[in-house]
Amino acid sequence: MNNLFLFCRAGYEKECAAEIQDRAAELGVAGYVKAAANNAYVVFQCFAEGDADKLGRELPLDTLIFARQMFVCSELLQDLPADDRVSPIVQALSSIEKGGELRVETPDTNEAKELLTFCRKFTVPLRAALKKQEILLASENQRRPIVHVCFLGSDSAYAGYSYSNNSSPFFMGIPRLKFPSAAPSRSTLKLDEAFNYFIAPHEQETRLHSGMNAVDLGACPGGWTYQLVRRGMFVSAVDNGPMADSLMQTGQVTHYREDGFRFEPKRKNIYWLVCDMVEQPSRVAELMEHWAINGWFHEAIFNLKLPMKSRYKEVTTILQRMAEVLQENGFNRFQIRCKHLYHDRDEVTVHLYLRPGSHI
Ligand SMILES: C[S@@+](CC[C@H](N)C(=O)[O-])C[C@H]1O[C@@H](n2cnc3c(N)ncnc32)[C@H](O)[C@@H]1O
Repeated sequence: MNNLFLFCRAGYEKECAAEIQDRAAELGVAGYVKAAANNAYVVFQCFAEGDADKLGRELPLDTLIFARQMFVCSELLQDLPADDRVSPIVQALSSIEKGGELRVETPDTNEAKELLTFCRKFTVPLRAALKKQEILLASENQRRPIVHVCFLGSDSAYAGYSYSNNSSPFFMGIPRLKFPSAAPSRSTLKLDEAFNYFIAPHEQETRLHSGMNAVDLGACPGGWTYQLVRRGMFVSAVDNGPMADSLMQTGQVTHYREDGFRFEPKRKNIYWLVCDMVEQPSRVAELMEHWAINGWFHEAIFNLKLPMKSRYKEVTTILQRMAEVLQENGFNRFQIRCKHLYHDRDEVTVHLYLRPGSHI
């Protein structure tokens, strides 16, 4: 198995391809990318035997911005016979031992998603056959590799595996979040996903809890503020627009009709800074750096709206610059993570964590 299959948002194949090419090279892995516009996936073909497995094992999925999920796989299986698709797939997966879970998926496009009913039905006989060959364990095991089959059409699929400690826990890499009916905008799901993605469940009790103070720049109508209020925080919401009455009535929100680029926090004990202003990404990044240097927050989540062109280069340049600026200003234990989350469209979400004692 010498390919790495990467799921991404449709329209972001070029970014996903450029990123995997760069990141594989950093690990000394050479190969080339097969990608087509709007397919919602990229395949990276490694030149040397064993290199795809190395990427699946050693390239942390968490550090890839544009890939939602990845798995090591063989060549595309084509012309699968309609009366027995199971046998060639089992054959292609025969090198896997004791997988812990099976996911039969498709790329995230409208056309491919029409195959999802088929995928669900097909999972049953395929799972039985894989268990018989001990490619899958008799019962699910979260510590064993995940077996993936990704159908591009009803007669073609990529088949392979991911390591459970370097894989999205979600089917197709997509978290299913329920839109809370009391939230004033659908954007609320972006911050909900970001909190769940960037803050591990066992850390949420200490880093995301009731009583904390937060600032929301570009807050209206309040979808992000809703997520902070829901978690029991007190929020300074900064925006010239109107905030949802329901949020104001909670008594947890103070609305400042001010320019987010000029606003200065009235309190000194802000833990969370969040920012969803539609602005040039470099301007937003500079604003976050300014707040960090002033010691005005501990953790920030903000969006960088992506330009039309050179999106991968623009994002990586901004993030690299941010790390340099923080280092130059005496920060030494910060963490910057960035992901094109499922609920993001033409933007990426960044998490900046200024760990306790990160400033010298
Ligand atoms: C995408 S919306 C935010 C949506 C919000 N996060 C939610 O979930 O409801 C962007 C907001 O940023 C605000 N905005 C843009 N530039 C701003 C600035 N310089 N200062 C304050 N707010 C600004 C706009 O008024 C707009 O309400």
